[in-house]
Amino acid sequence: MKQDALTPEKLREAYQHVWFVVARSQDIVTPQSATLLDQNLVVFRDSSGVARVTDRRCIHRGGNLADGVVAGDNIACPYHGWQFDGQTGRCAHIPSLPEGGRIPPKAEIKAYPVIERFGHVWTCLGDPVFDLPDPPEIADLELEWRSAEPIHAACGFMAATENFRDMAHFPFVHEPSMGEVDPVVSDLDVKRDGREVWATYYYEQIPSAKFSAVGDAQMQYHSYAPGIATILYDFGPETGKRYLVDFPSPVSYDKCIIFWGVATDRDFRGGSVDDILAVETMVFNEDTPVLEGLEPKEVPLAGQAFEVSAPADVYTLNYRRATQYAVQAIQQARGLTEEAAAGNGRVQVG
Ligand code: FES
Ligand SMILES: [Fe+2]
Repeated sequence: MKQDALTPEKLREAYQHVWFVVARSQDIVTPQSATLLDQNLVVFRDSSGVARVTDRRCIHRGGNLADGVVAGDNIACPYHGWQFDGQTGRCAHIPSLPEGGRIPPKAEIKAYPVIERFGHVWTCLGDPVFDLPDPPEIADLELEWRSAEPIHAACGFMAATENFRDMAHFPFVHEPSMGEVDPVVSDLDVKRDGREVWATYYYEQIPSAKFSAVGDAQMQYHSYAPGIATILYDFGPETGKRYLVDFPSPVSYDKCIIFWGVATDRDFRGGSVDDILAVETMVFNEDTPVLEGLEPKEVPLAGQAFEVSAPADVYTLNYRRATQYAVQAIQQARGLTEEAAAGNGRVQVG
């Protein structure tokens, strides 16, 4: 695949077919505004508790449905009270119509598919090409989840995803939380298959660091390109396991909201899930200023900027290949490319 297939326009087109988070589950007690790939949306829970995502703009006179209220299974516009069904987007009620009045057939907004998983609400603007993953490494765990406060970051969502699963920045960005981590990154065991990438990193306890109060950890990274990255922390049989998820969501090409969360396994003895959330919040807050200083603001997949890589970037390079693979697979599924995704990301990475 040529790099021109990864221009911002082509990526935007492809990412219409990827699931992204648009809200935390706990926040949709009232309708919430969201923007995904420049599309304004409203996220709400209907009368039966099902999460719904529709366009935010009312097609009557442009009212903001996120300022509206839920009426049964509909979202009601704050301007003239038109109601739209959360599942179909069809206008279900126009208060100004006399008894028996006909709802115009074009009175419809777009409604999108929704999945709630990992404490978050996910949607896809087009037909999803990949399923939302069920990571096998947590299948046997009994997790208690906490969704973190989402972080609005002035950088692209791929740059945020890369940062989450980068190990070489620990001693420079995370000295306050992680302590004096050895800057040498060695023994990275990285594996990729299609859009999935795995890596393991051994974090040795640094007694002065808040982050490592619990002890040494085997950090098992698993990413699903383009925007899902996870870490299973295994502290050994005495202390147990905890889990960390990162779901940066593209507001636009160079802006994202980093949705993320933590979970502890039932046998975890390294602190409460709220303790873990507090420590990881510190870590995330250390990353944001660095992310916002990046040039360019998004990973230059089309070769827009010159970059040089070192061996410690092997996971990043594999994540980029996985992203290219994902985009290629989407383009193929959409009939936009002749090339087979069967090449498994056989593409050139800078
Ligand atoms: S603008 Fe929404 S009902 Fe009029
Ligand atoms: Fe970081």
